[in-house]
Amino acid sequence: MGCLLWRMAWRVDAWMHVETITVPGTSVIGLQWGDEAKGKLVDLLSERLHVDIVVRYQGGANAGHTVVVGDAMYKLHQIPSGILSDGVMNVIAPGVVLNPAVLLEEFDGLVARGIPVAERLMISERAHVVFPWHMAEDRAVNMEKVGGEGIGTTLRGIGPCYRDKYGRLSAIRLGDMVGSDFRERIEEVVAIKRRTLAGYSAAIHDEELDAAAIHDEYRRYADRLLPLVGDTTTYLLDAVEADRRILYEGAQGAMLDIDHGTFPFVTSSNSSGVGVSSGTGVPCRWINRVYGVIKSYTTRVGGGPFPTEQDNEVGQRIRELGNEYGTTTGRPRRCGWFDAVAVRYAARLSGVDVLSLMMLDVVSQLPEVKICVAYELDGKRIQYVPSRAAELRRVKPVYETFTGWQQDVTRATKLDDLPAPAHKFLERISQLVGVPIEVISVGPARAQTILALQPGQHDDERTS
Ligand code: IMP
Repeated sequence: MGCLLWRMAWRVDAWMHVETITVPGTSVIGLQWGDEAKGKLVDLLSERLHVDIVVRYQGGANAGHTVVVGDAMYKLHQIPSGILSDGVMNVIAPGVVLNPAVLLEEFDGLVARGIPVAERLMISERAHVVFPWHMAEDRAVNMEKVGGEGIGTTLRGIGPCYRDKYGRLSAIRLGDMVGSDFRERIEEVVAIKRRTLAGYSAAIHDEELDAAAIHDEYRRYADRLLPLVGDTTTYLLDAVEADRRILYEGAQGAMLDIDHGTFPFVTSSNSSGVGVSSGTGVPCRWINRVYGVIKSYTTRVGGGPFPTEQDNEVGQRIRELGNEYGTTTGRPRRCGWFDAVAVRYAARLSGVDVLSLMMLDVVSQLPEVKICVAYELDGKRIQYVPSRAAELRRVKPVYETFTGWQQDVTRATKLDDLPAPAHKFLERISQLVGVPIEVISVGPARAQTILALQPGQHDDERTS
């Protein structure tokens, strides 16, 4: 099946000539541990699919999406990547935990560069808000270890804010911030926080629990955000019923999913495909095309098992070639070979229709390239991702090795421009994951993209 899909995928490279594609609901999901360069794909698809709306539905300021348009580079954290496209509405949905200070900084930065953000952005009144106490708690908790290893969070207060959301009593949503009783609500929550965070006193500074100062600061944010705040759930439900095209932009990656990822070394939201519906309020029947985004190798930031990690010169070389340093925290990313076991799991979990393979230019410079095709656990060959971190730590990757092609592919615009060994590498990935590759990225710019398969083409192949 995989072979067939891949063979069919090779036949067409004429994506530039396709005029209009009717795909009402498309999602873009990272299939590794985040940082798969989803921002570039979202930006491309926003134009390519004539998308009306781009939606962020989980995570928060822990994300970092880099988008290059012409000579300009944009780094986005909370604002959806569709903000750079004319005529596209961008929605921050209820599943996001919003840091208003970071959002407004991003807003001002984009406006200074001529992007009319206010006309293109709507934020859910249901989105939960990150407060200074969340960041303080994140710092404190981040010092703790799970089985001898720290989670290594981004320190953006994400976990503590989601914890408050599920705990309910000390949660504050964006809609509460614009209400007349906001001051009383802050005082109430600060009183709870003083009691519950007492044990963390060394890590929590006075100003992080100063109700009056926090109220004044967040009131100012609320005044600026008010024109953007609304009921995005109804807006999106109306939009799908009116056949408007929507692109759902995932943050992080499926392997960091709170329920299905490498728990507890995960983020606190559903970062795989399963999160789209709960985060937006749009039933999954409206999402009919899922792009899974992968890099030609693997990276991970923070703690947790990483079977194909190359903590050696190879990893260092990948890091340099791929400039693998965090967009949000600047941390050097852990680097390793492509893990087909993890990606196949993530693709199935997210209902992926097609793959978008990013950073092919990076492995194109290496003398040899490996793909992990299976794991060995306690002497037995397995094809699944063990759910327990302790077991996943013990697995040994089984590799297939490819001779490197060591060629500059950054100017390739069609499949025929790629050398034969690169074709072999891509074919094997598609086969192992069981999904055709539609998009191949060979550099950060929009133009450095190869379309291997016309959108919609594989659907016919599958049913034929
Ligand atoms: P948190 O989301 O800040 O709580 O961090 C939890 C884990 O997810 C840590 O290992 C982070 O490094 C990782 N993480 C969070 N956001 C991203 C991201 O955007 N890219 C890659 N890793 C992330």
